[in-house]
Amino acid sequence: MKTTYESAVTEVAAPTGQVLKGQYAGAYRSDKGKIKGLLLRSGQTELTVKLPKYLRPMLVRELAPGDFVQVWAYPEDERWRAINVLPLPECEAETLRQRWGDLAPVAEPAQPKQKRLCIEVCSKGKCFKQGGRQTYHDLQAAVADNPELSHVSVKATGCMKACKHGPNLRLPSGKMLHRASPADALAKLSR
Ligand code: FES
Repeated sequence: MKTTYESAVTEVAAPTGQVLKGQYAGAYRSDKGKIKGLLLRSGQTELTVKLPKYLRPMLVRELAPGDFVQVWAYPEDERWRAINVLPLPECEAETLRQRWGDLAPVAEPAQPKQKRLCIEVCSKGKCFKQGGRQTYHDLQAAVADNPELSHVSVKATGCMKACKHGPNLRLPSGKMLHRASPADALAKLSR
């Protein structure tokens, strides 16, 4: 059940200012399926909470439906916008568990399992001096920031024997890219 924030304020268990406490019930996704935040179940109420980009990867890596969390957030339109999310201390989680009983976590629609993909970046002298070092770090940051790319890794490798055309990258397909930006490499990932 979605609620407006006015009703949510009174129904959130033990609110402390703008701290919302409840169970992570699944990811909140845009119409295109991109993760935008989380659904927080508090008693019989389900809140929609938008997360800043840097907090979204934690949904994929650290939270499982049913985990108790506390969310620092402020109301915005009919949703909440979070500033931070932390696990709820076990003693508080236990209190809520007893008060609410065991709630069946909301099942997320099954996502097709994605094949793991690796982008290789030449880390040898000539390529690194020609911008490869920056490309390597930018690619790592772009992958870490985007939960949709949790199946992608970035690996530094030895010389790819194309030093004159560096910096050089190699896609999972084996195709080499010369002087490509991180955005080019990610756009061509599955080709
Ligand atoms: S140093 Fe990068 S291809 Fe040789």
